[in-house]
Amino acid sequence: MSSLSIEKRRPLKIVGLAGSVRATSTNKGFLNAVIEMRSVTCLSSILTWRRKVPEVVLQFRRKVDEADAVIFASPEYNYSLPPALKNAIDWASRPPNVWAGKAAAVMSAAGGSGGKRSQYHLRQIGVCLDLHFINKPEVFVNTHEGPLPKFDTNGDLIDEEIRARVRQLLRSLHAFAIRLSSS
Ligand SMILES: Cc1cc2nc3c(=O)[nH]c(=O)nc-3n(C[C@H](O)[C@H](O)[C@H](O)COP(=O)(O)O)c2cc1C
Repeated sequence: MSSLSIEKRRPLKIVGLAGSVRATSTNKGFLNAVIEMRSVTCLSSILTWRRKVPEVVLQFRRKVDEADAVIFASPEYNYSLPPALKNAIDWASRPPNVWAGKAAAVMSAAGGSGGKRSQYHLRQIGVCLDLHFINKPEVFVNTHEGPLPKFDTNGDLIDEEIRARVRQLLRSLHAFAIRLSSS
């Protein structure tokens, strides 16, 4: 396991996980916005995965293990997480559980629910993984609602109000990760 001690001055090393594998995924767009923001936290990579390839699984586990914190951006599928994301979470949870003790945040772009139910399922799984989610701000986006699109046709986040909420989410995650590592 990597050390969880974080120097206060350096940007956090965070990995982002997109729950959708679509080429123009809005949830990947969320993570691209985080990379662009270069805020107090620094998203070092967006992790993707394939099934049935052990070397890819090992690399995935290593990247999670090396991260100070984790951001999930995931749609809701049938009131829960997409199975591809659950599968990746499960791979990295086998002993040693590389999620344990890390700070985490979640945001979702989905249909009518904005992904609320999938976020609460993820938080529930986090209890088992010993993954510590920040509570606020909550970021749920209903991509089917509103007169103006929140993401463009490439899946990139173009709504300024939502971008401000994502920035706040990053600030909260950063502060919480530092508190957690020094406690
Ligand atoms: C199999 C499937 C099930 C879905 N179930 C839900 C759901 O229960 N609630 C919801 O709000 N949206 C649901 N959706 C809509 C997705 O959450 C929505 O398409 C999302 O924006 C896709 O994210 P992406 O752009 O990152 O791929 C479902 C979509 C699929 C393909």
